[in-house]
Amino acid sequence: MAMKRTNLRLAGELLIELRRDGTVPLHRQIETAIRAGIRSGRLPLGSSLPPTRTIALDLGVSRGVIVEAYEQLAAEGYLTSRAGGYTQVAIGAEPVPAPRRPMPAPAPRIDFGYGRADVSNFPRAAWLRSIRRVLTEAPNERFGYLDGRGAPELHEALADYLNRVRGTSAEPGDIVICNGYAQGVTLLIQVLARSGARRLAVEDPSADDDARPVAEAAGLEVIGVPVDEGGVRVDALDRTDADALILTPSHQWPTGGVLPAESRAAVLRWAARRGALIIEDDYDAEYRYDRAPVGAIQGLAPDRVVYAGTVSKTLAPGLRLGWLVVPRHLVDAVAKAKVTADRGSPVVDQLAFADFLTRGEFDRHLRRMRPVYRRRRDALLAALGTRLPDLEPTGVAAGLHLVTWLPPDLDETAVVKAAARRGLGVYGVGPYRISSDGPSGLIFGYATLGEAAIGEGIDLLAAVIDEVRSR
Ligand SMILES: Cc1ncc(COP(=O)(O)O)c(C=O)c1O
Repeated sequence: MAMKRTNLRLAGELLIELRRDGTVPLHRQIETAIRAGIRSGRLPLGSSLPPTRTIALDLGVSRGVIVEAYEQLAAEGYLTSRAGGYTQVAIGAEPVPAPRRPMPAPAPRIDFGYGRADVSNFPRAAWLRSIRRVLTEAPNERFGYLDGRGAPELHEALADYLNRVRGTSAEPGDIVICNGYAQGVTLLIQVLARSGARRLAVEDPSADDDARPVAEAAGLEVIGVPVDEGGVRVDALDRTDADALILTPSHQWPTGGVLPAESRAAVLRWAARRGALIIEDDYDAEYRYDRAPVGAIQGLAPDRVVYAGTVSKTLAPGLRLGWLVVPRHLVDAVAKAKVTADRGSPVVDQLAFADFLTRGEFDRHLRRMRPVYRRRRDALLAALGTRLPDLEPTGVAAGLHLVTWLPPDLDETAVVKAAARRGLGVYGVGPYRISSDGPSGLIFGYATLGEAAIGEGIDLLAAVIDEVRSR
């Protein structure tokens, strides 16, 4: 059947297209359209509707059809008849329901959150001087698109710094600047997956928010290799069939173990045997308190090891500035992946960091921060020793966090939850495990808490643990 459509304009608003195919009575269609207009607010409370005669004429229907629709809507309370014979909208629009968002958990009053630097100590004045110098002195071409590896000035400055301080064997041309470790490891995983890699080995436990999900999304199988107080267990690694291994050899995350010399040699033998790549995540090596410096493993085998560094722990994670020292045969592939990802990291920050490094500001900043963090760590160890002597600290000699193993009668999740209820943020090791084996433990970041808050936090934790034990 041919369908005739009539447009009705009511107070300037398109109201309805009448279908004359007989499936829905005309008065119903008009009711529905006006009802929808009122609910949506298009016909606001108090607005007048045109007289039935006018509207009937406009629509080409009998006046009775309009009267019937108005009467129905009046009966439902949408419309009301006013003296003088006109009809008004009688109710307001339905409020649009606000999208339901889960209530964010209140921030803990005292938070031993880890993975943070104390950004309140960011060296603003020195950074500003570097930025100013860069903006004054950088050649124009630096503000164009750069090679995927980043700014040459930063390659030079980093190679000097890393070879001097971290014992790497880095050539400026082998460095790729990236947006923190998170992007660096993502680029490496992309390159690995493209070259046919199938399996990525990671420490168990290890961070669960960077390489692991990225590798899984790229179709790689992620295999956990257990760690002990000496970092990754090389006996377990020997049985692991993987194309690459991510390691935190200088300070295992989160348990804090340092990979001893013989294990380093064994890891490199494993990599050579398998033709595997080692990715060395050197995330907090700059902070070392009471142990001898441990050089980067990359220095032992620059053709097998990618060294990954970041300013997230030393300056600020918000800078999103990191670097990879890449075996020469992979440099072009990684640089290409970087260009594809984002065409390069912001150049002003790269040049500012190069200036900051070469002028010795980075060393100065670290010299200033080490005692600050050391005092916080000492306060935490002292408070734990006094208030909770049966929690066994580990991995305390370096970094910005430590772990305490829990005695067997304490359930990690119960302690974490009970602490959260009292406004105390402590975090379990369990969520970072790949296999379900291994002792329960708590991770304490101490970088952002003053000594008094640390003492108060541990007092509170002792009360929490008493409460959990008394259940
Ligand atoms: C194990 C580990 N690696 C690397 C990083 C640094 O990541 P990014 O440079 O992406 O901030 C962190 C930061 O917390 C970390 O905990």
